[in-house]
Amino acid sequence: MSFTRRQILAGLAGLTVVGLGAGGARYWLGRPFDRKTHDYELIAAPFDMELVPGHKTPVWGFGPQAPGTEIRCRQGDLLRVRFINKLPEQTTIHWHGMRIPLEMDGVPYVSQLPVLPGEYFDYQFVPPDAGSYWYHPHLASSKQLGRGLVGPLIIDEREPTGFAHERTLSLKTWNVDEEGAFTPFSIPREAARAGTRGRLSTINGVPRPVIELPAGQVVRLRLINVDSTMTYRINLPGAESRIYALDGNPIEPRDLGKEYWLGAGMRLDLALKVPAEGTELSLRNGPLRLATIKSVASTDAPAEWPPALPANPVAEPDLAKAETIKFNFEWAAALADPNQAGPAQYWQINGQAWDINDKTCADRPIATLKLGNHYIFELRNMAQYLHPVHLHGMSFKVISSDRKKIIPYFTDTYLLGKNETARIAFVADNPGVWMFHCHVIDHMETGLMAAIKVA
Ligand code: C2O
Ligand code: CU
Ligand code: CU
Repeated sequence: MSFTRRQILAGLAGLTVVGLGAGGARYWLGRPFDRKTHDYELIAAPFDMELVPGHKTPVWGFGPQAPGTEIRCRQGDLLRVRFINKLPEQTTIHWHGMRIPLEMDGVPYVSQLPVLPGEYFDYQFVPPDAGSYWYHPHLASSKQLGRGLVGPLIIDEREPTGFAHERTLSLKTWNVDEEGAFTPFSIPREAARAGTRGRLSTINGVPRPVIELPAGQVVRLRLINVDSTMTYRINLPGAESRIYALDGNPIEPRDLGKEYWLGAGMRLDLALKVPAEGTELSLRNGPLRLATIKSVASTDAPAEWPPALPANPVAEPDLAKAETIKFNFEWAAALADPNQAGPAQYWQINGQAWDINDKTCADRPIATLKLGNHYIFELRNMAQYLHPVHLHGMSFKVISSDRKKIIPYFTDTYLLGKNETARIAFVADNPGVWMFHCHVIDHMETGLMAAIKVA
């Protein structure tokens, strides 16, 4: 296969992504016969976008849109992404939720060097798990994610599921004013609290879109919270909807219920039984409308709820032989020295704040795990602010909380509530140095990050 330079030079009009599909199999001798290759050329570049009608916002995007091009691969196939950096600054891509080798994890100075302006980097990996994931840079995050560098990554199940229809809905609340100009992505006062919130909520880059769905069909809605701060309280009043997967990982389907709290970085696969033609539903964040869902005529026969999605091949932690390690997520803003040189440090894990500008932080892991051993992490939130706690490289099972009843499930991000203590468990089966952080980007950049070493 070949990547053409033409698209790089052609400017915005040429910012297309080439999905070469199954081509190239003949170049890869020794691979299992049925492993296909999915190739993309992904360009990060600045462009103007009309988020506010009649105004231009100078966004940065992956591909010709923000949120970026939807990247798709089948579970167990090979995904190759040639990432080309046409931004004025260095960056990387991290594949959120992917259990892949460290070299592909996109963390600067840990996995790879930053990709400089004008350079490219070839990412390639075999996604072991199906589900809804996403991708984003792992440096200068408040600015780069804030400007729009986020995108959906969908891994199709190895075998077809019972869903004939689906939509990807990437949720982002932009930090823009009424004229579409960016407002600060990070304000110290907010960083020391819930994180700096945007003002304009969008789905796939459109404020309050109307989403047309086929009447009588069951549609898989892949809700992906690509925002840097927001916890969306997802609800769909009057709808028949069931949760099929959390953060990519299937669960026994259950009703959506009153609302589901979708923290930054988290995903929700919701099945919606679309009502009779002409009916409108409101997809909401608490009381606020995110989108109008409108049912339109469908020629397909009415559908029933599909069976549960097949489980991902995540190793089952054995709690009886697991070692417990405690992590306190602490609020340290009262101690922060306003005259301190370097970035503010408002947050700590076990008394340590991550310094976002110190390239050597990952050399001092907060915990070292033995490859193949089983662990329980006890996560304790010492403050009133929510922390969507995320671990790279491995999925973990949420096993208990002192605040709510947990039906154990696998995930890569757990929304740790106000003053909550929760326990998660996993098998340390992926060697490397893995980031462990809060996905409220303001928190991550002001201390709430650590490295977990597996060796
Ligand atoms: Cu979405 Cu460090 O990750
Ligand atoms: Cu991640
Ligand atoms: Cu946090």
